[in-house]
Amino acid sequence: MSKFVGIVSGKGGVGKTTTTINLGMVLTNFGKDVVVVDANLKTPNVGLHLGVSKMPITLHDAVRGNVHITEAAYKHICGLRIIPASISFEDSKTKSHKSLSDIMLDLHGKVDVVLLDISAGLNEEVTDAMKACDNLIVVVTPDMPSVTDALKTIKLAEEIGVNVFGVIINKAGDDELTAQNIETILEKPIIGTVPYDENVKKSLRFKFPVVYSHPESAASFAYKKLAAKLLGEEYRETLQKESVLGRLMKKFK
Ligand SMILES: Nc1ncnc2c1ncn2[C@@H]1O[C@H](COP(=O)(O)OP(=O)(O)OP(=O)(O)O)[C@@H](O)[C@H]1O
Ligand SMILES: [Mg+2]
Repeated sequence: MSKFVGIVSGKGGVGKTTTTINLGMVLTNFGKDVVVVDANLKTPNVGLHLGVSKMPITLHDAVRGNVHITEAAYKHICGLRIIPASISFEDSKTKSHKSLSDIMLDLHGKVDVVLLDISAGLNEEVTDAMKACDNLIVVVTPDMPSVTDALKTIKLAEEIGVNVFGVIINKAGDDELTAQNIETILEKPIIGTVPYDENVKKSLRFKFPVVYSHPESAASFAYKKLAAKLLGEEYRETLQKESVLGRLMKKFK
């Protein structure tokens, strides 16, 4: 059975797209059949993060009812499967022919995990995208404005009956709020903490997930740990060390 997991936030810019593509990449590397859907129809970013922003068929075509959702799927050079949305201003005004939940139903049984990169805020598009999910992961940065807005996102999810699986603290460092503070305010478990890491910015310039371009970085380690946790497994650093050794061995072959 396919799992539909939405990545949400109250405030914009906290790292939803970064989280979605990196979790998608790690789960793919762990052998899962994954697709990342850019469910942000107004200001989509998945294609921009991966350097593929002008694809011929996008989620917008499926929303208009012109194509089956599977026709809008592409495999990125890094191995991650994505369903991008169109970045054109005209397409951003698309009137939905079908709800996102209905469109997502067409992916049922076709993949193991569908990760939806959902836009920030509490609007109708967000509600529709949330309804397409079995579980939501809320991304926050460790500051009061982000956490306060996340609380509203959680309340909206509760109102429409979609489970919030947990919270990811992103861009962690020298912070205003501790993980304990955030857990107390949001009353949801913290399932992962990703440090502020300049390598994430570099990966955006390279147009690759950081776990692909900088697999040994602190952020990458956090994403691997998080993905393993989602699969109910423990991420062991020995796995990472083995892969480094594996790569070294290849160089000497
Ligand atoms: N752990 C991190 N360390 C450093 N920079 C990060 C980290 N996570 C994300 N960023 C940077 O923060 C910026 C916003 O990230 P991203 O686009 O993923 O946020 P978003 O929540 O999807 O934004 P939006 O609400 O606009 O869709 C990007 O420049 C990204 O590279
Ligand atoms: Mg985004």
